[in-house]
Amino acid sequence: MNADGQQHSDALVFFGATGDLAYKKIFPALQSMARRGNLNFPVIGVAKSGWNHDQMIERARDSVTKHGGLNPEAFKILASRLNYVDGDYNDPGSFQGLKALLDKAGAVRPTHYLAIPPSLFPTVIERLREAGVHKGARVVVEKPFGRDLESARALNEVVHRAFDESSIYRIDHYLGKEAVQNILYFRFANAFLEPVWNRNYVASIQITMAENFGVAGRGKFYEETGIIRDVIQNHLLQVVGFLAMEPPSSAASDAIRDEQAKVLRTVRPIEASQIVRGQFRGYRDEGGVAKDSRVGTYAAMKLSVDSWRWAGVPFFVRAGKSLSKTCTEVTVELKNPPQVVFHEATFSKGNYVRFRLGPQVQIALGARAKRTGEGMAGRPVELSVVQQSSSDEMDAYERLLGDAMDGDPTLFARYDTVEAAWRVVDPVIRDQSEIFEYEPGSWGPPQADRLVAEVGGWNTPQ
Ligand code: BG6
Repeated sequence: MNADGQQHSDALVFFGATGDLAYKKIFPALQSMARRGNLNFPVIGVAKSGWNHDQMIERARDSVTKHGGLNPEAFKILASRLNYVDGDYNDPGSFQGLKALLDKAGAVRPTHYLAIPPSLFPTVIERLREAGVHKGARVVVEKPFGRDLESARALNEVVHRAFDESSIYRIDHYLGKEAVQNILYFRFANAFLEPVWNRNYVASIQITMAENFGVAGRGKFYEETGIIRDVIQNHLLQVVGFLAMEPPSSAASDAIRDEQAKVLRTVRPIEASQIVRGQFRGYRDEGGVAKDSRVGTYAAMKLSVDSWRWAGVPFFVRAGKSLSKTCTEVTVELKNPPQVVFHEATFSKGNYVRFRLGPQVQIALGARAKRTGEGMAGRPVELSVVQQSSSDEMDAYERLLGDAMDGDPTLFARYDTVEAAWRVVDPVIRDQSEIFEYEPGSWGPPQADRLVAEVGGWNTPQ
């Protein structure tokens, strides 16, 4: 039992065992758990690939080899814990097979992790309920939770038919990232920030999530999802929430989640004129992608946060696939001093706080300092801390899977936050407005520049 009185789960069942997420994230996370001595429960992979147990083990071996490296001892533990159920998610028989395995393992409090395309969530949840393996269980649901506001509500009802809210873990791996937690920590553990962290001093905020790869074999998923559902409604709006929230009353799970939900409710639904969508050239040639697809692989938008603290401060958010580099960065730009005391041309970039959320974790303060010489002229300088990643660092998936198994929901998205985030993007989610083609390796369609003209352009990560 954990400190909040929640029982530990006694088995992990993950659906989508032969899929991309399992390959890239879940097997490596499980191997890491084994390395730390935390994989002390059976793991059951479920998929409909016609595979057998040995093929599953080989896939796991290949996965950890490619993502983080094979640790022979830890892998041995993982392989000994791993079971496989093959079957159709529509077929109640497959779920009887799962039940039999759980019974055999003596598991009465499993965690079911749905690492599958969103369109399959309702079917799998219904089958879990029919098979009775929802009792005493938790469910971890991958993002995006729903396709829009209406379907999120419908999905929530479906999930609630089988699980109560305290057993539902909506995963958003950004919440488990070291760098994202650092935003919260840095904001509320330093006295010098709070006085300026508001509309009186902050001129604008920008968030860029750039990736230098395309949809990497996930064309079918992307056609269902698109950039807004894939990373903006969830990852980036969670980041907006951490940047903009009021101080939580404590570090308790619900104190932080309450503030997150509150601030996201003050983000104004996006107007069509405040978004620019793009698609990289070549996307339509990807497997599983329609030749005339209008799905966005890039979006840039201006958000307004209608709170006392942020009224009038624009939040610019952009994300894209196949851009010039892979980097996620936030810049909080402060207003310039009220007067130019020193005789120099006005400067465009003065003070700012920059959070690099990935690939490495970095926090930097931008300032001006006098240039050496006779004149009183300055230059921009940056005070920066780079957090070295240690080989022992816990990946977000490992942390979150461990938390779900332990019954700690702090780093999972609560339904009110998810709903508030859908409300923000809902007006543009089915958008059929113009979509601009952009060159792979560029910074997206130049048409997006108009959004940030008022602040002098995008802060492009260096
Ligand atoms: C996932 C998205 O949720 O996040 C991917 O589905 C994206 O499209 C990924 O590449 C980015 O995560 P990270 O941790 O690499 O920034």
